Parts: sequence; structure tokens; C-alpha cells
Amino acid sequence: MIHTEQLSRHFDDVIALNNTDIHIKAQQTTVIMGGSGSGKTTLLRLLAGLECPTSGHIWYGDDDLNGMSQKRLYQLRARMGMLFQYSALLNSLNVYDNVAFPLVEHTKLDNSVIHTMVTMKLEQVGLRGFENLMPSQLSGGMAKRVAFARALAMDPEVVFFDEPTSGLDPISAGVIASLIGNITKHTKMTSIVVTHDVHAGLEIADHVILLWQGKVIAEGTSDVIRNCDDARVQQFIEGRPDGPIPFSRSETSYIEDLLHKPGTVRIS
Ligand SMILES: Nc1ncnc2c1ncn2[C@@H]1O[C@H](COP(=O)(O)OP(=O)(O)O)[C@@H](O)[C@H]1O
Ligand SMILES: [Mg+2]
Repeated sequence: MIHTEQLSRHFDDVIALNNTDIHIKAQQTTVIMGGSGSGKTTLLRLLAGLECPTSGHIWYGDDDLNGMSQKRLYQLRARMGMLFQYSALLNSLNVYDNVAFPLVEHTKLDNSVIHTMVTMKLEQVGLRGFENLMPSQLSGGMAKRVAFARALAMDPEVVFFDEPTSGLDPISAGVIASLIGNITKHTKMTSIVVTHDVHAGLEIADHVILLWQGKVIAEGTSDVIRNCDDARVQQFIEGRPDGPIPFSRSETSYIEDLLHKPGTVRIS
């Protein structure tokens, strides 16, 4: 359904994404995992068309996102839902109005139809009956579920999730993860989930892509990843601080930086 070809994104001298080729199948949950700074969010933003690659291509079927007309991009976006890490709810609107918001903004549907659709989405995330609560009255897990319902409002074909479980207690994180897995299965949507939560990620993935320093170092089913003997993959899965994945990403020597950094003021 979606695939990338030699996709790269540089930020000055930081290579966030380095010639990656990935394939995302329709109607599956693809989980993109990797440590902090491995390029997950960058990849997600590129896939969602929120920013442009430095080089390479992103294909939606036969359509290249590069050089796509504004009109075509808009049509494509209308088929996408997004639940980003800091996708805050609108604080002045209650739960119902937050979920209804995209429908009110982007469609001309009658209020009674919107009511039916919002009720269905809230039922899907287990929040029917909470329509009148304001965002400040919600727990972190409930707020994520409202944001999830809002992302589902337009019945998207593809939904992007950036760290959907971060900042949640383990039970709320489990609830969100299983909602993503179940809703993907039952509505035949395509979910692309970025997370560093190994447990939740492996639990819900049909396909896992593991990134390290902007490159894919392993991919396959959760079992393939669990049994992968690449030392970097094992270090990541087991969350070990020591191993081939360094704690610091800097390429320059610490001692050299301390002693010789040009242009810095040194007191002698
Ligand atoms: N807008 C930006 N400007 C400069 N550097 C960025 C920007 N976005 C990401 N980066 C850098 O690109 C690398 C990958 O970042 P990111 O995709 O956010 O990683 P992850 O989501 O896996 O933590 C990091 O080194 C980060 O500092
Ligand atoms: Mg990120």
C-alpha cells in the first residue's frame, strides 16, 4: 500500500533518515520501533506528507508523494487520521465536540449524522457516556482515547500514531495498544504506529520495522524480531544500557570535544 524508496531526511549535518526502503501493507498494524533519535518521528512525518524528504520517494500505490499536486495531496490527507504524541485536545471543547470537530470542519453532514458517527467512535474507544466532560477532567489515558476517537472520526484508511502510549501508566498503555490492534483488525484500516514501547509494540504488530540511526536494522513479525540474533536488536528489546547501541550518538570523541573544540572559549 505504502512504500518508500531510498528515503532520506537530513537536518543540517544530522542524518535523521538514511536511504530507507520500507513497505507497509494495507489493513495491518505496522509498528516502527527504535531508540530515541533513531528517526521514527521523522519517518512518520514524511509518510504523512507533513514534511518533505531530502531525497527519495514515498509511494501511495502508484502515486509519488513527491511532486504531487496540492489537490491530490489534500484528497490523500482526507483518508488519513493522526494521533501524534502531543496532539492536544481543544481545551475549550467537551469530549463530544472534540470528536465531532473534524466532521464539522471538513464535511457538510447533518448534525444528526454527526451525532451517530461521534457516538460510534466513542463506543469504539470505550468512552460513550463521557461526552460532556471537559479535557481538564480526563485522565491521561482517557484523553488519548478521545484523541484516538477524533482521529477515527472521518473513517480514515490510514492512521498514524506517534508514541500513543507514552506518559501512560502500564494499564492505560495496554488499553490504548489493544484498542489500536483491535480497531485496526475490525475496521480494516491500516495503522502505522511509532513507539519505543517494546512490550506494547510487539504485542500489537503484524509487522515490525526496527530503526537505528535512521536505517532499518530488522523487520518482520514480532516473533522474527524477538528471535533476531542481531546484537543491536537484542539490546533494544531487552532494554540493556550496554551493548552495540551507544548511549550517546555523537560521532566525535568526548575527550577531543572537551580539550580541542575550536571556536569555544577556553580558560587557561
Ligand atoms: N526539525 C528538526 N531539526 C533538527 N534536527 C531534527 C529535527 N527533527 C529531528 N531531528 C533530529 O533527527 C534525529 C531523529 O529524530 P526523530 O525522528 O525525532 O527520532 P525519534 O522519533 O526516533 O526519537 C535526531 O537526531 C533529531 O535530533
Ligand atoms: Mg519521536
